[in-house]
Amino acid sequence: MSFIKEHELYLKNLLDKLGYEESNVSIFPCSKKELGDFQLNICMNIAKKYHQNPMEIAKLIVANLNNHFINVNIANPGFINFSFNKEILIEYLNKSLENFHNLVDKHEEKTIFLDYGGANAAKALHVGHMRSPNIGEAMRRLANLLGYKTISDVHLGDLGRQAGMLISEIKVREPNLVFFDDAYEGSYPKVKYTPKDLGEMYVAANIKANEDSSRMNEVREITAEIDKGNKRYIALWSQLVEISSISIKETYQKLNCHFDLWEGELDSFKDIPKMLEVLKPFLYESEGALVMDIKNDTDTKEMPPLIVIKKDGATIYATRDLATIYSRINRFNPDEIWYFTDNRQSLYFEQVFRAAYKSGLVPKTCKLQHFGFGTINGTDGKPYKTRDGGVMELASLIDLIKEEITPKLKENIENKEEVASKLTIATLKFADLMSFRNTDYIFDPVKFSSFEGKTGPYILYTAVRLKSLLNKGNLNSHSKISNLDNEDVLNISLKILELSNILERAFNEKSLNYLTDFLFDLASLFNKFYNNYHILSEKDETLRNSNLAIVKLVYNVIHELLNVLAIEEVEKM
Ligand code: ARG
Repeated sequence: MSFIKEHELYLKNLLDKLGYEESNVSIFPCSKKELGDFQLNICMNIAKKYHQNPMEIAKLIVANLNNHFINVNIANPGFINFSFNKEILIEYLNKSLENFHNLVDKHEEKTIFLDYGGANAAKALHVGHMRSPNIGEAMRRLANLLGYKTISDVHLGDLGRQAGMLISEIKVREPNLVFFDDAYEGSYPKVKYTPKDLGEMYVAANIKANEDSSRMNEVREITAEIDKGNKRYIALWSQLVEISSISIKETYQKLNCHFDLWEGELDSFKDIPKMLEVLKPFLYESEGALVMDIKNDTDTKEMPPLIVIKKDGATIYATRDLATIYSRINRFNPDEIWYFTDNRQSLYFEQVFRAAYKSGLVPKTCKLQHFGFGTINGTDGKPYKTRDGGVMELASLIDLIKEEITPKLKENIENKEEVASKLTIATLKFADLMSFRNTDYIFDPVKFSSFEGKTGPYILYTAVRLKSLLNKGNLNSHSKISNLDNEDVLNISLKILELSNILERAFNEKSLNYLTDFLFDLASLFNKFYNNYHILSEKDETLRNSNLAIVKLVYNVIHELLNVLAIEEVEKM
């Protein structure tokens, strides 16, 4: 159990013994450092509840505290300020040095299903598309760290207008392919396109379809045919999805994403009839379409019925998401399903979730949750664009950052290319996770790739420094922390005590900014110590070893948190 949790529990029990029942006792960092490292604010609440004087309650508590609490003092109207006994603190830090998990509070067993990534087949990934994989992957890793089981699915957007676009373009270019022969019954040949070809063909088809309405009609027709199960089109489209998956996979690999399942909307088709069976008692016809009421009496906003099947019999995004829910519940029975997309899909998911609960598609015990995120803007405050005003592809942004990073690297690095790539991804990810999930943010490539300030490279640089100290200092595995007298070292230690709360907060709010802030604070505190004090030339061997053990602990924490953020370290930079 984490140090703070353990002491909160101790205080809760103490209050119990003193006759005060409190379900939650929280220890906070002290707002006035000269009064102590921590404070307890609970006396004011207890006083209200029990109609007593808060100062008297504080005195009673203080009189009963054990020797873990030192420099205890009471401030009006009933704050208890204190620090922790350093011996106890040292013991805890040493245990955490042996086992990092000692710093983390584990949770009840639960299976969480995460739906993120969500790239659309045959379409290039734009800058905004990195948020879902970045946030989703980090949340998956954080959930694992806290002890939850997870299953992740990329949920490809592999059905929609882009299918019709591409197939119509191929039909123009290669009309003799068997996929366009109505009478063809044989097996299907492999088509020879690259992911790049698909991107080009999509752009070309898009331009033509927007200029020519008969071409647009054909696009719609082909899309509808796939939806209805046209075997030839599906055979062609499946190949195209596979080709485009190559480059999608590459990109997600660069972002260090791991997907347990590589499924998509097309995979949900086989579950649509079973899903409809469950929804049946709630479905009714409206203007030819099959819809379901999802309004609540308490709704203050408009909640139109959800269309489940369109009037031409076609499925829509919601149909496929409902069928996917059916499949996930039946195959994995998760306790929670999390969706990560941008904020614009919030209402959509609310509708789908309501339909799922109301119809019994999902048991009430399973929590469906959508976690939206804001837009990535340029310095002009508008969605991030290329210099000439076009949509910025993610690949181009990666190139651009790499150009910023490369000249800053030291001359004598062997695998410069690899280091530059890792720093590029670190820049991208740290910047993307640094603002609160729900808000829009401005992406500034120059600022975010700087080696100083709150950036990915700064944290990686600190990790390199820590590793180099550990190498040079020859820390042996028995070295223990034995001294917290140095103020910088004490501040580092107190920061590390906050870790469990920080993880909790990030987990509850599904926002990684708490982790990036913590990493920056910890790195800054460490660098302050490093600049104020020469660790390696300390003559007193016990003190030198103690400080090296602190270096190791800081490194372990940074290492684990970078891993949660899916940011890889480098050895030199
Ligand atoms: N492909 C979708 C899009 O680009 C995201 C998929 C999100 N997941 C889901 N189950 N709907 O908007």
